[in-house]
Amino acid sequence: MALVNVGEFRYPQGWTDPHQAKAWARQYCQKLEEGEILMFDSPPFDFPQADREFLLSQKQSGLKVHKNVSYRPKRDVLRGDACETPEDNQRLHDILRRYSRQVTQFVDRFLSPYMPYRILDFASYRPLEEKGRDLPLHKRNDLVHVDAFPSRPTHGARILRVFTNINPTRPRVWDTTDKFEKLVQSFADDAGLPRFAKKAGSPSQKLRKTFAPVMRVVGIKGMERSAYDRFMLRFHDYLKENTDYQTKWTRIRLEFPPGATWIVYTDQVPHAAISGQFMTEQTFIIPLEAMVTPQCSPLRVLEAHCGKTLVPVE
Ligand SMILES: [Fe+2]
Repeated sequence: MALVNVGEFRYPQGWTDPHQAKAWARQYCQKLEEGEILMFDSPPFDFPQADREFLLSQKQSGLKVHKNVSYRPKRDVLRGDACETPEDNQRLHDILRRYSRQVTQFVDRFLSPYMPYRILDFASYRPLEEKGRDLPLHKRNDLVHVDAFPSRPTHGARILRVFTNINPTRPRVWDTTDKFEKLVQSFADDAGLPRFAKKAGSPSQKLRKTFAPVMRVVGIKGMERSAYDRFMLRFHDYLKENTDYQTKWTRIRLEFPPGATWIVYTDQVPHAAISGQFMTEQTFIIPLEAMVTPQCSPLRVLEAHCGKTLVPVE
């Protein structure tokens, strides 16, 4: 498991040559797709100090930002009134809008092969201390897992996340383990992959997909999940439940210092948030056709393992 330290990064640094820029962008996409984490010493996009200080001050002054705040860029909606006053809520909204745009501009250039395909997902601000949070087992962040979205099936598309530790003094600490392929070899069968694969493409699955939009209108979600989505949700829970995996597998500790920004496919790289407070995050969904090395994707790794197609071919 490798952490690739890109160091300090600012455009243009040679990226003005389009051929060179394209070649570098492909290399970075490939590293991510192979399960590496790209880390920068400081945000490689504009993230004004004043904005970061405002986010921190909301907690330090004892005001209301005591929960994770989510921002939906496509609708320009901030979820929940996180601050004490309408003015502060407006400012928080402005900061997350600006942050989301800056990260997106950066990703569109730095990982340019993804740009025509990428889907902008939510951004968030996470002011909570990860250490010692009292959460139900499947929601615990300190247990090693790979991400899967319960309410937004991806059908094999990837979950790419950009994180920034805005804590001025303390690192964010993660643990990781052996790569996704190793997890699949060791646990996929026990987690039920053959059962999920058997149902893939069955008439009942096709019906579920057909009627999913109607069912969503009446409040029934998840009908459109493919066998891949169903397995990945199960695998997320399975790994958290698996005491042997959590306690006996070798863990690799990763520390993201104050100001560090890192990019990672969290549907592939096993991770547990051990400690840390004050982090921003922007998620992108990257369809499989954008992949430089699609054979490395969780969908293809799982399909190779079970010998079945897990997402219906249109
Ligand atoms: Fe996660």
